[in-house]
Amino acid sequence: MKILVATEKPFAPAAIEHIRDVAREEDHELVLLENYKSIEEFKSAVANADALIVRSDLVTAEIISAAKNLRIVVRAGAGFDNLDLEACTAHGVVAMNTPGQNANAVAELVFEMMLYQARGGFTGNIGTELRGKTLGIHAFGNVGKYVAEIGMGFGMTIYVFDPYKADNAITVSGAKVCRRVEELYSSCQYVSLHLPANAKTAGSINYNLLINMPVNAVLVNTARKEIINEDDLLRIFQERPDFRYLSDIEPVCKPVFEEKYKGRYLFSDIKMGAQTKEANINAGIAAARQIVNYFKTGNERFRVNKQK
Ligand code: 3PG
Repeated sequence: MKILVATEKPFAPAAIEHIRDVAREEDHELVLLENYKSIEEFKSAVANADALIVRSDLVTAEIISAAKNLRIVVRAGAGFDNLDLEACTAHGVVAMNTPGQNANAVAELVFEMMLYQARGGFTGNIGTELRGKTLGIHAFGNVGKYVAEIGMGFGMTIYVFDPYKADNAITVSGAKVCRRVEELYSSCQYVSLHLPANAKTAGSINYNLLINMPVNAVLVNTARKEIINEDDLLRIFQERPDFRYLSDIEPVCKPVFEEKYKGRYLFSDIKMGAQTKEANINAGIAAARQIVNYFKTGNERFRVNKQK
């Protein structure tokens, strides 16, 4: 079988070696398309692939239609909002993700950004400490759990809102349970977002939540820009000079931040939560193994789309 790895933002070379080893064990061929610049390149590379591994690359209906032999696509990562699941189902393609594999890298980035901001952007000016501060975790999946664990290490008081998790799954981490989302935001100086992007969550982080955050509020977004209501965020920035926003995804309204709110935000140029060698190796190996197992045994664990 031909396994295509198509990544606009390539994996670390060590991860590719591991993926190659997993494919080779079962005599599958590995083909690389890294740093591609056009959809046409992607379409032509995927045309004869039996399996596809991607990161945040957009796997649209157009890509799926061009992939005549495709049987499985694995998003090496957690969020699968880049996959057209309906197109996959319609073409009989199994779609999977690799939950948890890059979660620690994302959680560490949350603290890297918080520390950078708390210390005034490493200017040497007097900053603040994380110890004793309140940290709210919005959604307690794989990343949220690591954020809680690291936050405990910093001596922060952790609150969690996740209506899909049992109380004891949260309290075992030492975090406090918030029953209402409003309670999370009104209790926590820092709030870290770990929700998936979907129709329910789009624009859900809004004025009514953010306005009630305590003084010197810091919103950290290593999830997706789509979950933020950007008009509301700009209104908050206008009304509250104490408010900060840290994210590894540039908002659409970045030019307004650049013009008006210097020093109050941090955006990385590319999405970098999962940009560690370890995360790439873990997610890459998991993706390759899931494909190999699917071809060998039909194992559909981590499938995220419906069957035809
Ligand atoms: C994820 O959903 O796993 C993260 O956003 C990482 O995405 P990336 O692999 O494109 O960096």
